[in-house]
Amino acid sequence: MATLGVNIDHVATIREARRTIEPDPVWAAAAAELGGADAITIHLREDRRHIQDRDLEVLKKTVQVKLNLELAMNPLMVDIACRVAPDQVTIVPENREEVTTEGGLDVVRHKKELAATIGKLQDAGIIVSLFIDPEPEQIQTAASLSVPAVELHTGAYANAAKNSLEELQLLARAATFVHQAGLILNAGHGLTYRNVTPVAELEGMEELNIGHSIVARAVFVGMAEAVREMKDLIGR
Ligand code: PXP
Repeated sequence: MATLGVNIDHVATIREARRTIEPDPVWAAAAAELGGADAITIHLREDRRHIQDRDLEVLKKTVQVKLNLELAMNPLMVDIACRVAPDQVTIVPENREEVTTEGGLDVVRHKKELAATIGKLQDAGIIVSLFIDPEPEQIQTAASLSVPAVELHTGAYANAAKNSLEELQLLARAATFVHQAGLILNAGHGLTYRNVTPVAELEGMEELNIGHSIVARAVFVGMAEAVREMKDLIGR
């Protein structure tokens, strides 16, 4: 079973809908910690559509569990990360028109630029994880880039109305491959209270990053309770 990273981006999405000061993702992070979150995850997007630079700066000072920053491989964003120094950076692909991160980072295609970016982040003392599709070639290349961890994209599994068992089997095979490559296994995207358990039960699953579903439930039951309910499902 797995630990839980709570992605609080969509608390900031609500705030930005009115360009006001509430709800504050800093409060959301504190409430998520009260509910048992093992990590707080935020994505500072280039277009700043939800999380703002101020959120990152304040969360760096207030979060008591691991702070995981999702970031595109862009020199300006990498400079921000090196300056603020969150515990972990997860490098993700980013595309201005997308509603959310649509696929894994193509580490095979971007291997050379990634090596430089990873080196810079690691020199700043930051743990680096790569958000990749559950494919052997991507996993093998990630391992060759000397990162300690990968986050497998679970979107295909989450979106598979009919073939979710097939997609789960692909994830299970990829999980084995991640262990064989000596990497820490994280996963996320599209996970919900209904579909999370089989992913949490994959052998050696370390951490799940879950955002939308937890924030959606928090609207009705509160953030701490929403996190507690997810923690009960995924185990540790
Ligand atoms: N992991 C990564 C790398 C992501 O980009 C996202 C979405 O920001 C998530 C996990 C969380 O996805 P969801 O909001 O669908 O739970």
